[in-house]
Formats: sequence, C-alpha cells, structure tokens
Amino acid sequence: MSAQVADRVVMRGICKRFGMVEALRGVTLRVAPGEVVGLVGDNAAGKSTLMKILSGAYIPDEGDIWIDGEHTVFGSPRDAQRMGIEMVYQDLALCDDIDVAGNVFLGREPTRFGRILLDNKKMHAESRELLDSLHVRLPFTDLPVRNLSGGQRQAVAIARAVNFQPRLLILDEPTAALAVSEVETVLDLIRRVASRGVSVILITHRLQDLFAVCDRLCVMYEGTMSADLDAKEATLDMVVAKIVGQGGPQ
Ligand SMILES: Nc1ncnc2c1ncn2[C@@H]1O[C@H](COP(=O)(O)OP(=O)(O)O)[C@@H](O)[C@H]1O
Ligand SMILES: [Mg+2]
Repeated sequence: MSAQVADRVVMRGICKRFGMVEALRGVTLRVAPGEVVGLVGDNAAGKSTLMKILSGAYIPDEGDIWIDGEHTVFGSPRDAQRMGIEMVYQDLALCDDIDVAGNVFLGREPTRFGRILLDNKKMHAESRELLDSLHVRLPFTDLPVRNLSGGQRQAVAIARAVNFQPRLLILDEPTAALAVSEVETVLDLIRRVASRGVSVILITHRLQDLFAVCDRLCVMYEGTMSADLDAKEATLDMVVAKIVGQGGPQ
C-alpha cells in the first residue's frame, strides 16, 4: 500500500513499545485535507503516543507515515513542524507574562541580522488580523495571557498554531478545562480552521464535542484502532461500545 495523493496523512502499521508495554500494535490512520477527525479511547488506549509519533516527539518502532503522499520519517518535533504539523498540547505552552500578540508570534519573532527584532506594531497588527479572520473575539492584543479565560487562552494557542500555516493541527483535549459557555467558541474555531483546508485531529473525552465538529471518529482500544466511523452515521452508543472494547472488530 502507498498513500493516495488525496490523503493529507496516512499512518500505517504503527507500533511502539515502552519496555513491556505495547502502547501501539499496528495502528493505521488516514486523514483527508480539511477533515476533522476525532480520536477517542479510554485512558492508556494509545492516543497520545500515536499523536506524539505524528508530531515527531516519539519515533515509532515500526510503521510508515506519509504526508500529502510523501513518505516521511520524523526525528524530532522540528522535522514534523517543517512538514506542516502543529500540535497544541493540553497544557498549552503559552507564556503567561507575555501579551496576546507576543504569544501568537512566540518562538518565531521577526529577526534581522540574526537578532530578534521585536516589531511590536507589526506583531499587534498581524495578530489582530489573524484573530479577526478566525472570528476570535479578543478586544486587546496587548493583554498578558494570564488575564484571559481558559477559552480565550485556548483560542490564542490555536491561533498561534494556525499562524504557522500548518497542513495538520493536532489538538489534545482543547475543551477539557473550559466553562460550558466557552466550549462552543472553541468548536467554532476548529470548524473555521478546517474550512481553510487545514486537517484537524481532535483528542477529546467530551464525546458530545465529537458529533458537533468531526467528520470522522477514530476509536482506539488497547493500542489498536478499533473503529473508524463516519460521524454522521455513528451514534453515541456505538462510540461508547467501541471505547470499552465491545462489539468485536469493526
Ligand atoms: N513515555 C512512556 N513511558 C512508558 N510508558 C508509556 C509512555 N508513554 C505512554 N506509555 C504507556 O503507553 C500506553 C498508552 O499511553 P497513552 O498513549 O498516553 O494513552 P492515552 O493517551 O490514550 O491515554 C499506556 O499504557 C502508557 O502507560
Ligand atoms: Mg493521553
């Protein structure tokens, strides 16, 4: 098998063990351009390990990865970023004391003569433009992110990742820590990012979010991919049964 050109991501036969633990036992995953795939499974099913492999943080023991048809081997997160893969971790990795614009450009500030040149005006203007284009309602870009709500912080972290113009955005539990009223805003943002053609993989325990935003639902069980469902056809009961390992192989 090789990747179809239409696939944004193909992972095939991915295996990873940690000592005696077989975290992944031959996992296959495909994602199309602009598709939102929900990745679910019980604790220790292997979701984070699979996504750490896709974002270059772990190297698989076996298996192959193609990005837009190109066979790739990632030695580090930098390699994955160069291929257009951005992962927003659960703990967000924002700098609390730095303002919104500074966080949007974090690690990638404009440089000149090898020195970081903080062109503040430009950073604020571009951050504003980016946030507006994503319909993120944040009145000020000069506010330290410590003053923002959980949902606003999540939006800034996603905007920062989008600013790298990724081909694939991986989100790990983006709504887990949010107030109910903020969840919808973040789900909207995910839809908007996908509508630009960016593929999204969403890890979540909030199963209701899956149906609101995903095109496909991939369920992991004990290091295998136990179901790959069309979100329009799947029901909550089907997903829950697959999460707890009922119903046999797909
Ligand atoms: N760095 C690691 N060292 C040892 N074991 C690990 C490591 N990362 C994950 N594991 C193990 O691999 C299995 C899958 O974990 P993980 O991918 O985090 O699952 P999930 O994200 O679905 O909860 C678990 O048994 C976990 O304990
Ligand atoms: Mg995890």
